[in-house]
Amino acid sequence: MSARLLNGTEIARQVRAELAPRVAAFSARAGRPPGLGILLVGHDPGSEIYVRNKGKAAAELGIRADTERLPHTATLDEVLAIVDRLNKSAVHDGILVQSPLPAEMGSDAEQRVFDTISPAKDVDGFHPVNVGLLVQNRPHLVPCTPLGIIELLVRSETKIAGARAVVIGRSDIVGKPSALLLLHRHATVTICHSKTVNLPAVAAGADILVAAIGRAGFVTRDFVKPGATVIDVGINRVTDPEVARRLLLSTPQRLADFEKKGSVLVGDVHPEVAEVAGVLTPVPGGVGPLTIAMLLGNTVKAAEASIGTR
Ligand code: GUN
Repeated sequence: MSARLLNGTEIARQVRAELAPRVAAFSARAGRPPGLGILLVGHDPGSEIYVRNKGKAAAELGIRADTERLPHTATLDEVLAIVDRLNKSAVHDGILVQSPLPAEMGSDAEQRVFDTISPAKDVDGFHPVNVGLLVQNRPHLVPCTPLGIIELLVRSETKIAGARAVVIGRSDIVGKPSALLLLHRHATVTICHSKTVNLPAVAAGADILVAAIGRAGFVTRDFVKPGATVIDVGINRVTDPEVARRLLLSTPQRLADFEKKGSVLVGDVHPEVAEVAGVLTPVPGGVGPLTIAMLLGNTVKAAEASIGTR
């Protein structure tokens, strides 16, 4: 058996197409486009790519995106000052401070920054007010990757109500909010993590398996019930030839790409899972494009709420 691959690029295109008339309606009514302020601190290569893609996708949809940059030596106060300015801005409806912040800024820097972003402009859904609203199932702005996961499941007509869902990973950005969204759609949800006993056996009970661990190829075929829907959230850059060869044995084209470039992007799900799962999201081209589409959706939602149209 070979899993049906969910085309995240195509589903994200549909989501963006559905947002276009809302962007036009907001712009006509407000006399300006929805606006997103992005702050990037330092030069993390992954973050550079994310931020560039977010800004480009926003511009293509007619959303104003302004990216501000600070050097990796910036202080927390400098970051908070920019957030404060964006909180007061009349042209920015959404604020996104790219994670991770430089380690030198301190272990609680991100929490302090996310706590400072106005909940009404919190398009990441990380502010405690938005987290609380999600927990109580009266969501306003919800984290983008979990929203994207639900969008993929709904648009691929995967039944969520009554399904057994297992989420591997308990992060505030993906694991916990994904579990809540699945719960609110009436799945029976288990969250697994590094201390879970017999993780493969727990995962193998899942009709819907969400892998959000951040370890290349961690989920192997013994984690997966035949026919299950597997959502791979991981985006791991592999540069070790031995690891690449082990993971890409069954996909010679991708192995050839690795041999040429010296690196490859691999999800948390081992490629061999395609032989067991019923439905699978590829990496790249699965969850990633949805995350950006949902960020645009959150920006439009925040903009509409600011003028009372939603
Ligand atoms: N870094 C990786 N993913 C995300 C995200 O969804 N939001 C922010 N702000 N930073 C990230």
